[in-house]
Amino acid sequence: MGLEVVIAQDFEDMSEEAANIIIPKIREATIYEQVEFNVGLATGSSPIGLYKRIIERQKEFDATRVASWNLDEYIGLPGETLTERIIHPQSYAFFMIQNLFGRLSPPFAKTHIPRGAEIDQRKLVDALKEGIDRGYVHLEGNDKGKAVVVLPSCNDKYLRWIRDELLDSYLHSIRDAGGIDYWIVGVGENGHIGFHESGIPLHHQILLVKLDDNTIYNAVKDGHFPNREDAPQYAISMGAGGIFGHSRNILLLASGGRKAECISKSLLGQATSEVPISGLYTYAQNGGNVTYVLDEDAAKGILGRDALLNKKGIAIKDLRLKYA
Ligand code: GLP
Repeated sequence: MGLEVVIAQDFEDMSEEAANIIIPKIREATIYEQVEFNVGLATGSSPIGLYKRIIERQKEFDATRVASWNLDEYIGLPGETLTERIIHPQSYAFFMIQNLFGRLSPPFAKTHIPRGAEIDQRKLVDALKEGIDRGYVHLEGNDKGKAVVVLPSCNDKYLRWIRDELLDSYLHSIRDAGGIDYWIVGVGENGHIGFHESGIPLHHQILLVKLDDNTIYNAVKDGHFPNREDAPQYAISMGAGGIFGHSRNILLLASGGRKAECISKSLLGQATSEVPISGLYTYAQNGGNVTYVLDEDAAKGILGRDALLNKKGIAIKDLRLKYA
């Protein structure tokens, strides 16, 4: 199994280490082997330093051989039209253009972002209400965040379009491309991966998701939205099962004390849907390759636990030693 935890000093050091892992892999595939490289991408503050370095070092690889897939996208950003919602400053499409895609020349061959902006949240809420009443929509999850499952018996055209054209086809595009070589992921305070919220069964491959209160709380706290009422309530997201099932390598980035508890639970505890990233351990046991790159604050729940981690087959690389 391959699960390594790299402990960096701070955010910059974490970003540098992540860049030194991923850029040579992209270079190897696109320059030396001259094959396509499929990368999975995340939004949020965690990967920003890594993206900055990918931009600075873009001459080291051939972007025209790279295709990317993002983890998730909001539904329900303010805006009457699709264009208004896509160019909303908090849309993940906008984030990616600003922090990576718009600053690569030449650009990636292909970029994919879940089509959450195409959904009209009011129409969705009405259709879901009726679907739940009539029994062709199920909500799954033990916490406030829920997977919205549109059952085969659903005869609502709008919900079927979301399920077939927006969810299933996204997953198929990854499968048809041969899977993801490296997926860069972040993690939420509650241990979510993408928007696969705490309490949602880990087998889900792709999700229409009702966001958890904690996710909305943090989005407001981090200044992305002025208040809860203006924050999106839904999203489209890769599910843990889809990420694990379609990627050969996963690089998890986490910085800050807010992440410490879910990080330690995922490494020291059992796999549980309460902490979706805990599925990474099982993923690694099944042959996947996982690297956590953490700053000191995010790592604080595992510091000094090397013996226990090693016993579980988890390797530790402590970069802070170079500053000691
Ligand atoms: C959001 C995104 C996740 C991301 C998480 C953490 O919830 N959907 O993909 O990992 O935020 O964000 P940050 O890196 O800003 O802490």
